[in-house]
Amino acid sequence: MISHRNIAKLGTIVLVLANLTLPNVTFGQQIPSLRDTFKKDFGIGTALNNAQIDERDPQMTAFIARQFNMATPENVMKSEVVHPKWDTYDFTMGDKLIDFGEKHNIKINGHTLIWHSQLPSFIRGIKSQDSIRTFFTDHIKTVAGHYKDKVYSWDVVNEALNEDGTMRKSVFLQYLGEDFVTEAFRLAQQASPKTELYYNDYNNEQPKKRAGCIELVKKIKAAGVRIDGVGIQGHWHVGKVPLKDIEESILQYAALGVKVMFTELDIEVLPRNFQGADVGQRMVANEQSNPYPTALPDSVQQQLAADYEALFKLFLKHKDKVTRVTFWGVNDANSWLNNWPIRGRTSYPLLFDRKNQPKPAFYSVIGTKK
Ligand code: G3I
Repeated sequence: MISHRNIAKLGTIVLVLANLTLPNVTFGQQIPSLRDTFKKDFGIGTALNNAQIDERDPQMTAFIARQFNMATPENVMKSEVVHPKWDTYDFTMGDKLIDFGEKHNIKINGHTLIWHSQLPSFIRGIKSQDSIRTFFTDHIKTVAGHYKDKVYSWDVVNEALNEDGTMRKSVFLQYLGEDFVTEAFRLAQQASPKTELYYNDYNNEQPKKRAGCIELVKKIKAAGVRIDGVGIQGHWHVGKVPLKDIEESILQYAALGVKVMFTELDIEVLPRNFQGADVGQRMVANEQSNPYPTALPDSVQQQLAADYEALFKLFLKHKDKVTRVTFWGVNDANSWLNNWPIRGRTSYPLLFDRKNQPKPAFYSVIGTKK
């Protein structure tokens, strides 16, 4: 008698042999494609890191091209990278990403023009309003101008709000006042008239921050400036995904006449004593901080799958309003959550494991289309 276990082993052997004997069958082609599965619903994106943009691993490149039709640079278009000195710009990696997108039919979302974090170090030495304004204006004009007609969209302003909906005390607020957000959109529109322009933040599905975000959108529009969409980053926690707030946010943002996107989706499974993605926040490690160094327990794996399933059901319910869902990383090994808010942990927040193998959450997401 052939047991189930032997049949499973036989299946694995057949798959391995198929990959060995047919060189064109690249790794990962046996599983469904997210981009194809949701092609009539919304774009499916990922964040790409340096190694992926550089195409250092051909199997990884093929995997990305098969699963995703949109991509956001995880770091290489941030101001500290593209604008390292007052009068020096470096578009090397960003340009490679543009080539990557053209080659693999992947639309690029530029990330990000104005953000209080990952600023060039020279900003710290600037203490005058005039110089900050010059930096702000030149940066947007030059970077958005360089990528005119090359990126599909820009996260024009990122994370300008506090949790209570007031404006974050950034260097831009301090020197330029609250209008810097509208101004950034005006400059981006002038530099790249055909590019979609978005405001992006985390926790902006939460009622108070959402209210602040709605005010921002209204202010931009009232000034006669274009804003095409709001990005809800979507850095959530297993078993605690705020589905009601997310649905309410989709409806309220869409009612303003803007597109809604989930721009940095991941679901944290490790312990954390706060919510959100404020990169300045850190936690001190203790014995309980890294509970799953070798594997994720089945109970958590199942909860993760259930959370992703509920999210994608909601996205599909509102597919007339939701235009893109982007994961913050291709697989668990790439996730920033392995190093934040504590360095060197082992996290499991995405649909693919460290070898790009689909997790139960991948199949639960695909299953929402059945
Ligand atoms: O570039 C240096 C490199 O030279 C050095 O060797 C290495 C050693 O640690 O550090 C490198 O810099 C790291 C950088 O990523 C590039 O890899 C920084 O330490 C690290 O802090 C930085 O983290 C990024 C983080 O933004 C910083 O703000 C994450 O990769 C990136 O995923 C994360 O992305 C943000 C979004 O842009 C906005 N929303 C929140 C999201 C998650 O924090």
